[in-house]
Amino acid sequence: MGIVLDKDMDETRQGEAISMNKTEGSRKLYLESYGCAMNFSDSEVVASILVNDGFSTTQDSEEADLILINTCSIRENAEQRIRNRLRQFNRAKKQRPGLIIGILGCMAERLKTNLLEEEKLVDIVAGPDSYRDLPGLIEEVEGGQKAVNVLLSRDETYADISPVRLDKNGVTGFVSITRGCDNMCSFCVVPFTRGRERSRDPHTIVQECAALFNAGYREVTLLGQNVDSYRWNMTSKGEIKDENSPTTNFAQLLEMVAEVHPDLRVRFSTSHPKDMTIDVLHAIAKYENICNYIHLPVQSGNSDVLKRMNRGYTREWYLNRIAAINRIIPDCGITTDIITGFCDETLAQHEDTLSIMREVKYDTAYMYKYSVRPKTLAERKFEDNIPEEEKQRRLEEIITLQHEHSLAMNKAQIGKVEKVLVETPSKRSEEQMMGRTDRNLKVIFDRKGSKPGDYVMVKITDCNKASLKGEIVEA
Ligand code: 5AD
Ligand code: SF4
Repeated sequence: MGIVLDKDMDETRQGEAISMNKTEGSRKLYLESYGCAMNFSDSEVVASILVNDGFSTTQDSEEADLILINTCSIRENAEQRIRNRLRQFNRAKKQRPGLIIGILGCMAERLKTNLLEEEKLVDIVAGPDSYRDLPGLIEEVEGGQKAVNVLLSRDETYADISPVRLDKNGVTGFVSITRGCDNMCSFCVVPFTRGRERSRDPHTIVQECAALFNAGYREVTLLGQNVDSYRWNMTSKGEIKDENSPTTNFAQLLEMVAEVHPDLRVRFSTSHPKDMTIDVLHAIAKYENICNYIHLPVQSGNSDVLKRMNRGYTREWYLNRIAAINRIIPDCGITTDIITGFCDETLAQHEDTLSIMREVKYDTAYMYKYSVRPKTLAERKFEDNIPEEEKQRRLEEIITLQHEHSLAMNKAQIGKVEKVLVETPSKRSEEQMMGRTDRNLKVIFDRKGSKPGDYVMVKITDCNKASLKGEIVEA
C-alpha cells in the first residue's frame, strides 16, 4: 500500500512514501494519506478494516482495484493539490472503468456530495467517522451506485480496531487518544470536519502501546487535536459515562503509558496552551521515557490577534506556560505553529510574533500564511484583508528568524553526549543511521553495528539548521 505523506501539509512528520508488506486477497487497494499525523494514523485503521474485508495492498496505483485518498482541508492549497491528484486518478479510470476511487477524511467531510455530483471526481465519499462502513460503501459502488457516508459521531474512537502498521521503520508508531475538537479556533476548519471531541478508553490505549512494544517498537506518539483535554469517562458536556470507572486525565494517561516499559519512549501531540496542566509537566519530569519535548502552538505573539483567533489565552499566559516548562523540565525541546497575516494583523502585531519567537527560541516551527476556510468563525466575522504579497513577506521574515534560532539551538548541542533512538538508515547512505534525541532533534551518525530500535549514546560533533551530526561513543 502506498501511503504518501505530503511534506508541506504535515506539521509533525516528514513526507515520505510508506510501504507495508503485501497481504493476500483478491482485490487490490492503493491508499494515499495527506496532512497531519492523525490522518496517517486513521489510514492505518482504514487499512485494517479493508484487509479484514479481503483486500490485498499495493504500492502501485496502476494495479489497484480501489484507490483511496485520505485528505486534508487545513489550508486551501492542501485541497487544491488533492483535487489535482484526483483528476490524475480519474484519467486512469477512463482506461480502467472498473476502478473505484474514494475520498476519505477532512475534505470528504467538508465537501460532502459536491465531489460526486458537481466535480464527478469520486465514487465514494467517506468522512473520518465512517470508516467501519467502507466495506458497505464499496459494495454499493460495485452495485452501480455512488456511495456517501459523512455522518459525524459523538463516540466513535475506533478503540477496538487494531491498526495495520504502515510505518516504514517499525520503531516509531502513532496512537490516537482523542478524536475531533471542541475548541473552535476562529481560523480552523477541523471542528467542522472531525466533529465533537471524544476520548478513547485508556485501557485500549495502553494495550495498543504494549502490543507495539512487544512487536519491537520503541516509541509511541499519542495523538489528539488537543491532548490536554483528554478525559476518559466524561462526555463533552461533563457527564460521567460509567459510575464504576474513575476519570482519567491526560497527565494520568501519560503515566499509564510510560509504565508500559522503561524502554518505550513516549511523545504526544498537540498540546494546547490554554489547557496544558502542571501535572502534565510533572509527569514528563518524573518519567525518563516521557520525552522532554512539547509542541505548543502559539499561532501569534499578540493578545488582540489571539483573541480574534479565539485561542483562549494571551501572550502573557503563553509565556507563563513556557516559564513553567523551563522551570519543571530543564532542557525541554519546544516547537510551535505560527499563522501569519491573519485578518487585520498590523505590522506591530506581526512584530509581536517575531518578539515572542525571540523570547521562547523554539527548536523548530511550522509556519503558515493564513488561509481563509469556509464556515469558520473568521470567514464569517472578519475580512481576509492582508494582501498575499504582504503575507508572504511576513512569512519569510518569520522563517528567516526561525532558521537562525534552529541553527543556534543545534549548535548548542555540539559536544553533548545524547541518548539516541535509532530509526532508519539515513537518506544518503546505508552506512549512516538517523535517530532522534530525547528532545526530538534529528541526528545522523555512522552505523557502527547499530540497528533500528537500538538506543545508542551519540556525541554531537557538528550540525546544520535541520539536523545534528555525531558519533556513537558507547553502544
Ligand atoms: N490557515 C493557516 N494555517 C492554519 N492552521 C490551521 N488552520 C489554518 C488556516 N486556516 C495551522 C495552525 C495549526 C496547524 C495544524 O495548522 O497553525 O496549529
Ligand atoms: Fe483547530 Fe484550534 Fe482545534 Fe487545533 S485546537 S484543531 S487549531 S480548532
